[in-house]
Amino acid sequence: MTDKINQIKQIALEHIKQAADSKALDDIRVRFLGKKGELTDLLKTLGTMSKEERPKFGALVNETKTFIENYLQQQLDTLKQAEMNKKLESEKIDVTLPGRIHRRGAIHPVKLVLDQMESIFLGMGFTIAQGPEIETDFNNFKAMNFQDDHPARDAQDTFYIENGKTLFRTHTSPVQARTMQLNAPNPIRVICPGRVFRRDDIDATHHVQFHQVEGLLVDKDVKLSDLKGILLEFVQKMFGADMKIRLRPSFFPFTEPSAEVDVSCIFCHGDGCSFCKQSGWIEVLGAGCVHPNVLRLGGYDPEVFSGWAFGIGVERIALLKYGINDIRYLTEGDVRFLEQFR
Ligand code: PHE
Repeated sequence: MTDKINQIKQIALEHIKQAADSKALDDIRVRFLGKKGELTDLLKTLGTMSKEERPKFGALVNETKTFIENYLQQQLDTLKQAEMNKKLESEKIDVTLPGRIHRRGAIHPVKLVLDQMESIFLGMGFTIAQGPEIETDFNNFKAMNFQDDHPARDAQDTFYIENGKTLFRTHTSPVQARTMQLNAPNPIRVICPGRVFRRDDIDATHHVQFHQVEGLLVDKDVKLSDLKGILLEFVQKMFGADMKIRLRPSFFPFTEPSAEVDVSCIFCHGDGCSFCKQSGWIEVLGAGCVHPNVLRLGGYDPEVFSGWAFGIGVERIALLKYGINDIRYLTEGDVRFLEQFR
């Protein structure tokens, strides 16, 4: 019987030595030490033994059990340690590797200028009106008093869609029409910032898409001098208190009288330089008194109401403000240009 026990012990130790993981060790535990295990089975033969033999044999079986049990546990600890080491090794982090760089963006100069323009005009009591970039032919032209054969309606200058019923708006002035249709006969004091489109050759000062800020004031007893004062205030807030403005007679179908508005050259301050072609002035916007036909189509009686409007080229202002010499920088998305505005 002692031989039998020793044999089982040897086999168990051999298996434990070769066990590859904790699961294998568990199986060994069941096979040799479990309720129906090989050693437990031996105890069942106790009944066939003599009184003297029994305690000795029982003690030997238990001793062997404990021995196997200890060896199992020892092997289990070794395996677990090895598994842990392997895991630590595979999850190792190289803290000396360079980190990922998060590039910080910058606000686009056109957006910077738009924000500033909005805050200047909001400060003067204007609110913001908006209209769609795809506009009806009526709002873009007819409501703005363009004759049917006006050259601006030429497909050469304008992106038409839907057989000419709608188009990419060529200016923000159709928002004048929309705002009047919505508000008549109440007074209006709005600006409308937005994108406009023209079929044009792209060069340093022209683009097929750019931004305007339209302004519209409709009320009783409106004077042209109010317009001049508001525009001067805007220009001085934008560029500095020493700025001057100049109104030159011009023509727009939707204003009468109409004017081109120049600001003193921000580079030479009026002395004359190559930027302003020695004139000392730079043209930045169009303006004028709202034409009676436009008021009438918008629902206002021109005998009672009058108004004025202006349209400022936003890119123009941005170029002047930041000393940028080519409008194409604003749309090329070159980070070397853009990150300068951080
Ligand atoms: N809509 C004109 C343009 O795009 C600008 C303008 C607006 C002129 C309002 C007068 C009044 O050129």
